Amino acid sequence: MKIVTCIAPVNIAVMKYWGKRDEDLILPINDSLSATLNTNFMCAKTTILASPDLKENKFWLNGKEESFEGKRLQNCLREVQRRAKDMNPDVLGWKIAICSENNFPTAAGLASSAAGYACLVSALAKLYNIEGEISDIARLGSGSACRSIYGGWVRWHKGELSCGEDSVARQVVPSSHWPEMRVLILVVNDKKKKDSSTSGMQRSVDTSDLLLYRSDKIVPKRMEEMITSIKNKDFHNFAKLTMQDSNQFHATCLDTYPPCVYMNDVSHSISGLVHKYNELFDENRVAYTFDAGPNACLYILEKDVEEFLSVVNYVFPPPEVDQVEYLTGMPLENR
Ligand code: DP6
Repeated sequence: MKIVTCIAPVNIAVMKYWGKRDEDLILPINDSLSATLNTNFMCAKTTILASPDLKENKFWLNGKEESFEGKRLQNCLREVQRRAKDMNPDVLGWKIAICSENNFPTAAGLASSAAGYACLVSALAKLYNIEGEISDIARLGSGSACRSIYGGWVRWHKGELSCGEDSVARQVVPSSHWPEMRVLILVVNDKKKKDSSTSGMQRSVDTSDLLLYRSDKIVPKRMEEMITSIKNKDFHNFAKLTMQDSNQFHATCLDTYPPCVYMNDVSHSISGLVHKYNELFDENRVAYTFDAGPNACLYILEKDVEEFLSVVNYVFPPPEVDQVEYLTGMPLENR
């Protein structure tokens, strides 16, 4: 019998991944960039038991039994096992039981699949003694998961090859490069979203003209500017690019037919508040970014957290914004 446990954190994209060029291999149409949060706050935890006594494979997610035959789970498992050459052949033949949990709302646009699949693949790699690159395997579970394999600021290179071998995540700089950086999550709604990222982005690929313009004309240039602003620790520009990218991503969602509407009135009020706040100082001190859901992720420097939070609590007293989760120590160490 063998038991392994892993934890993996969520990542919050500042340049969004939206749209695939290959649905099965999960190959994106544009590069993306994110920071990986500290594992103490929002993370997935996966334990896998392998035993000759197990009669069948099993999978539990947040305490509920799920099908083991899901395509994404199967793709990850198959690829890990294919690479597991030098391990004990017995273990490879044993059935496994997978138990995964998130300590944050699943499917509310809070990147749960990213942490979940990064964690699953890390645990499988540990179980079967795989070393080296695994971000491309995590990508087979969920695109954004490949970025959670690394700490700090991470770029997912879309790659050019049709086999997906070069569609991998790479660390740009470690978290220690910008230790003052913090992320606040304003939980507007923790219900499951209507259009999943997977189906929403497929519809955008099929129907949005803006999507191609964004991936061809905007992202490559903006990516270089974003990396420069991070390397120079230029918060003002970093914030501007982050907010512009979030806005363009949601514009693409609205350009989709029928549209994908992820932000709600409270989300728009939060973005309005951030702009008003920044105007007071004549420079950006907070940046918002919204994924495929109404919750706001705010990038902010440690020195500004307390003041900005008091403004948020005044303007949005609970329960309007359900809970303000203050995530310290973000991003995390290198793994
Ligand atoms: C808006 O990685 O969840 O969060 O690859 O289909 O599993 P699949 O999609 P997913 O999409 C994430 C989209 C996003 C932007 C991002 O994280 O880059």
